[in-house]
Amino acid sequence: MSLSVVILAAGKGTRMKSGTPKVLHKLANKPLVEHVYTTAKDLGAEEVIVIYGHGGDQVKETCKHFDAKWVEQKEQLGTGHAVMQAFDSVNLNNNVLVLYGDVPLTKKETLQDLLNDSQGKLALLSVNLDKPFGYGRILRNEKNQVTGIVEQKDATPEQQEIQEVNTGILACNGETLKRLLNNIDNKNSQGEYYLTDIFELAEKDNIEIKTAQPEASYEVEGVNNRLQLATLERIFQKNIADELMTNGVALADPARIDVRGNADISNDVYIDINAVLEGDVKIGSGSNIGPNCVIINSTIGENVTIKANCILENAIVENNCEVGPYARLRPEAHLSQNAKVGNFVEIKKANIGEGSKVNHLSYIGDTEMGKNVNVGAGTITCNYDGANKHKTIIGDNVFVGSDTQLVAPVTIEDGVTIGAGATVTKDVAENMLVISRSPQKSISGWERPKKKK
Ligand code: UD1
Ligand code: CA
Repeated sequence: MSLSVVILAAGKGTRMKSGTPKVLHKLANKPLVEHVYTTAKDLGAEEVIVIYGHGGDQVKETCKHFDAKWVEQKEQLGTGHAVMQAFDSVNLNNNVLVLYGDVPLTKKETLQDLLNDSQGKLALLSVNLDKPFGYGRILRNEKNQVTGIVEQKDATPEQQEIQEVNTGILACNGETLKRLLNNIDNKNSQGEYYLTDIFELAEKDNIEIKTAQPEASYEVEGVNNRLQLATLERIFQKNIADELMTNGVALADPARIDVRGNADISNDVYIDINAVLEGDVKIGSGSNIGPNCVIINSTIGENVTIKANCILENAIVENNCEVGPYARLRPEAHLSQNAKVGNFVEIKKANIGEGSKVNHLSYIGDTEMGKNVNVGAGTITCNYDGANKHKTIIGDNVFVGSDTQLVAPVTIEDGVTIGAGATVTKDVAENMLVISRSPQKSISGWERPKKKK
């Protein structure tokens, strides 16, 4: 049976104390509701319906890349009411899975179990909690069959002892779900239409109720405040660190790496403390990432050394390169094999050729650099004239003396030597020596000015 997923995301999230709707708060740099959406897609959902309410425009705008149907719940009259809003959009022949936009870490496998259970039946995900306070409790008869769910506020003291609670996540055939929901009312302590009331109705209707349970309780934990968000973030990060180590990646401290995207890291990579990896990051085998590095949407080859405190964004670093400490590779920095970029160097939109070195205090932008070039300390490509960007082209085996300015557009051909302190404004042909400095004068008998008394 095909699958429709309904994501409830209408809640306000008052306890976040934020102008941002709750489901847009980020876990691993991705909105909570996007984690849920991705899980729905991973399950092969034919359609995803998002029920939105508070901050709807903002939610839709942020999630405009979703392949989903958006349905507004104008008033929040309860979880049952929320699901009912989906019925005009949902394919009722499908199996319908109800998820929550603020419960981000449910595993695909757990939901797959639930869906397997739900074929022709009503299936709910429950969990046993030491402290079940606040949750709906699962009622069972002497045959251990589910007979209903009672909310905390409606539960008798005896029912409050029950530790098996409702996670809210359930699956049911669309037609059946609609029929059951049409028969619920709001005669309870909160005056809400409870989704949970369908279980009692199903039991009366002889619809079998199955339960599945997650492997870990964090899978069904929701985010109501920033403390819970931070707790889930740490769990998420720990899981990624565990997976990396299982795959042969060495982490100096699994509690001090944050992955906010897709990290494709080969075995025998060593990552020191406080790494932040964002977006799509690839690191080849044998590479070494020093402490405090931020790596965003970048590809790093094999046996690369990135020393402490580097920032890379949209950069490519080929095999055997050395970067840092304190280097910044900005978008479209491309280091070919065996290149070296040292401390306090900024590279932007530039190719650094094989074996070339930019070791100290330099800015190289909008540049094509050949092989085995040595760029001295303090070299600047002056790529911007205040209005437009211009290109610097440097051939192979060029030697750029320290404190040189290359005023673009400018081409330095193969084998050129540039004396220290040059301001190069014109193209230089192969193998020439360029010096641009006024001749040195030494004045004898010079007396320094003295301080007035
Ligand atoms: C609900 C369950 C409870 C379960 C608990 C698990 C009901 C009646 N109770 O209680 O059995 O143990 O979840 O966390 O279902 N929402 C809407 N529109 C509404 C109401 C809610 O979109 O009109 C969304 C909320 O944004 C939230 C979710 O549904 O994400 C749950 O709603 P909430 O009122 O917090 O339910 P609980 O009281 O926690
Ligand atoms: Ca409630």
